[in-house]
Amino acid sequence: MPKGWPERAAGYTTRVHSGLGLLRQLLPLARDPLARVTTLNSAAAVHVFTALGRDFVFLTDPLLINDMLVDRRGHFEKGVFYDRVRRLAGNGVVLANGEEHGRQRDYLDRFFKRDHVVGLSEVMIDVVRAELAVWDTVLDIDAALHRMTFKILAATMFGAEIGHAEFDRIHEWLGLVLEAIMFRTVAPAWYLRIPTKRNRRHDNAMDRLRAAITTAMTAPEGADPDRLDLISVMRTVRGTDGKPLSADEMADQIVAVTMAGAETAATALSWLTVELARDSALQETLRAESAAAKDRGVPYSPDLAETPVLKQVLSELLRCRQPILVISRRTTHDTELRGLSLPAGTEVMYSPWAMHRDRTHFPAGAAFEPETFGSNGCPVAKGTYTPFGLGPRHCVGEQYAWQMMWIVVAELLAAVRIEKATAQHPDGRPLATIIPGTVDAQVRRMPTAAGEPS
Ligand code: HEM
Repeated sequence: MPKGWPERAAGYTTRVHSGLGLLRQLLPLARDPLARVTTLNSAAAVHVFTALGRDFVFLTDPLLINDMLVDRRGHFEKGVFYDRVRRLAGNGVVLANGEEHGRQRDYLDRFFKRDHVVGLSEVMIDVVRAELAVWDTVLDIDAALHRMTFKILAATMFGAEIGHAEFDRIHEWLGLVLEAIMFRTVAPAWYLRIPTKRNRRHDNAMDRLRAAITTAMTAPEGADPDRLDLISVMRTVRGTDGKPLSADEMADQIVAVTMAGAETAATALSWLTVELARDSALQETLRAESAAAKDRGVPYSPDLAETPVLKQVLSELLRCRQPILVISRRTTHDTELRGLSLPAGTEVMYSPWAMHRDRTHFPAGAAFEPETFGSNGCPVAKGTYTPFGLGPRHCVGEQYAWQMMWIVVAELLAAVRIEKATAQHPDGRPLATIIPGTVDAQVRRMPTAAGEPS
């Protein structure tokens, strides 16, 4: 039982839970973590419990969350869940802490800044069109969108000219590494030390991925110095000692960016198809809006200023279908949040998913209602709507994600009409993100100018 509570809570409504029970229920492998997290969010501002020999605090008050991520950011680092995967995933930007994190963000910001992302749009469009061209009319649209976003990430990280065979290998290894990361977050430490078939397969995938990245780092004779892919950008980085990044650091970064970017964006797009299949009028509005922007010569970019309905729809999607269940941090010092006292080493968590569905803040709750976001966005208190996080660790790929989502939605709706898209888990199932499972879909090719199906 954690000590000193509720006195440490400075008047916030507090629930003290016992033992490992609550932690187990929050993990993706638990029976119904979504229902549990929803209940937590409405039951008290602060939940506390002790597990794995340390205190855990689960926050549901938006201002406390905002303070942790922004105002008191220097007092927090990534927490216990991340420690467990470091051996496999390395120390890329998702896992790095303190000054090391700041150093990595500096050069990643170069790749992810708006104008650089706009420069990547051609590569993104090529991948999306090539993928759409081979879609069947009956398909698992979730798998198709995962493949598409993964391929976009691979093309923008490794360079557009990556060959098909090479892509398939990298796709397989990255997939295995991500699977391993998920598995290692919840598997007991002793199990990971045994050379089981699964553990060896996971370690082997990481070794092969690192080897592929090392090969990609060696520029071919006469390579274009203005290449925009992440590996090329990282090859230009020099440390304070004038030395380039090591192959290991680049590999860690590729894994970190893929881990953070592929699953979140693909899952969001997948849920969008489920919503659009239910609302053919909205589908038509989005199709017409993007087609009109294209006719006016508006280039793809992260801004979406010329496609306000799409911006509203995606904002609402990231509210009610926020892909991330729990975000966690750990205090590096004895600290406090608005009077709430947290000793060094306390693990602190919150759920953007539950917050976004809390009717106290968003009357629509779990329902998809784009009207939630009017022309001025959605006026809620800070810390309440955080689809891309907040503070120095907010999503470095946000601009990339907006542009990629616009390209995928616009090109997809130009190519096909979604007639059916039914999720295997309509309420979502938490794994790395809150997934729909397979999405059985039926699409019809849009007629070309000559009246033929595209
Ligand atoms: C709709 C899509 C996306 C959503 C909802 C999303 C959400 C988030 C959130 C909430 C965080 C903060 C996590 C925390 O505070 O611990 C984050 C971090 C991150 N995201 Fe995204 N993300 C998306 C797409 C992407 C894409 C496309 C990329 C890369 C191409 C990306 C790369 C990253 C990275 C590298 C971090 C870690 C940043 C750091 O720790 O400094 N994300 N994302």
